[in-house]
Amino acid sequence: LRSRDGVLRTELVASRTEVDIAGVAGRMLTYNGSVPGPTWILRPGDRLEVRLVNNLDEPTNVHTHGLAVSPEGNGDNPFLSIGPGENFDFRFDVPADHPTGVFWYHPHHHGSVPDQVFGGLYGTILVQDEHEAPSPRDRVLVISDVTLSSDGAVAQVSHAQTMNGREGELLLVNGQSQPLLSARPGELERWRVVNACTSRYLRLAAPGQDIWLVGMDSGHERTPRPVDDVLLAPGNRADLLVRMRRGTGELATLGYDRGRGMMGMVGSGDLSGPATLATLVVDGDDLPIDGRVSAQRIPDRDLRDRGPDNRRDITMTMGMQGMGAGMVFGFDDRPFDGERTDQSVTTGTVEEWTIRNPTTMDHPFHLHVWPMQVVEEHGRSVDEPMWRDVVNVTAGGSIKVLVDFARHPGRSVYHCHILDHEDAGMMAVVASG
Ligand code: C2O
Ligand code: CU
Ligand code: CU
Repeated sequence: LRSRDGVLRTELVASRTEVDIAGVAGRMLTYNGSVPGPTWILRPGDRLEVRLVNNLDEPTNVHTHGLAVSPEGNGDNPFLSIGPGENFDFRFDVPADHPTGVFWYHPHHHGSVPDQVFGGLYGTILVQDEHEAPSPRDRVLVISDVTLSSDGAVAQVSHAQTMNGREGELLLVNGQSQPLLSARPGELERWRVVNACTSRYLRLAAPGQDIWLVGMDSGHERTPRPVDDVLLAPGNRADLLVRMRRGTGELATLGYDRGRGMMGMVGSGDLSGPATLATLVVDGDDLPIDGRVSAQRIPDRDLRDRGPDNRRDITMTMGMQGMGAGMVFGFDDRPFDGERTDQSVTTGTVEEWTIRNPTTMDHPFHLHVWPMQVVEEHGRSVDEPMWRDVVNVTAGGSIKVLVDFARHPGRSVYHCHILDHEDAGMMAVVASG
């Protein structure tokens, strides 16, 4: 769906629907009857108007992940609850200088985020401008996972699984299990990949194909950079160019060791292990190869030129709450409380945040609304600015980011994008004013 005359007005109906998944009639949660939901294509400066119709039997809402939109009005609503049978009109104003890139939408109703995303509620948002590279073949690839019981219902997960972050048995590409993707040899394709998995890390690869990274989240590479694989933590997106080579190949995740909570105590089996996602069938007439790999590069700003006005430290915490009471997740030893403000910042400033992870597993740190630039990973400063809205903080590691609070006063959140952790309390409130 594309915007017209600066507005994209659309309806999003959330309901439980039967969809065919790997030959099983899965009773998934869907937007407009499909998994994933529709792709929205916007230009910087556009207004997005979404009427959410909640035909579920539980409350929900919708969040535009990665868009730097105002938390005031109803543009960013981790706090909003739309009850069953209710409608709600969301309005998102995309600033005129908003970066292009791949973004996505999903529910953000605290207490049901992992269940609703696992169940199938997610879709892609593309922000494109008129400088977008002359179109090679575009594909949107939404990767997600789910477990279906034998009767087709989305499986319930155990407490132990939620501690590590649930991973589904079925990996889906655009809602299909192990699809065939066909292409022409020599073709330069543009892949916009969303990691919509609740907790699974993807180390995406297409062995035998030439891949260039164009951008991640709202960051852009200076020139497309050749890569063998791309690590996508839950919530991350990649913008890739891929030169298709004749033959049959695969789209796969190579596996990534993300650690686990409380050694020895919780479950067994590999987390985020290697898996095939799709089969690539490249045949037909060869397309002429012009050798050119181009893509529009937006000159990214570098917040380091400005320096921080303030510094703060944030620690990811995960621990036992007395005997047998289960695990507590939070930041700075406090679980989420929507009434509390954890960080008060001054609108118009740039802040440097050091995020530490003393736990035994990786956590992807996600900040809403305010643009975040990764400047240091594990004590090493990065050469190029990396604009990310989800940044992985490895077990025992730390990262440093600069956050641009120039605009968008209001209240919003940061959280772990392993959605089971977010729901268990690893989320906190930032207020800019
Ligand atoms: Cu993708 Cu706060 O979420
Ligand atoms: Cu988000
Ligand atoms: Cu986490």
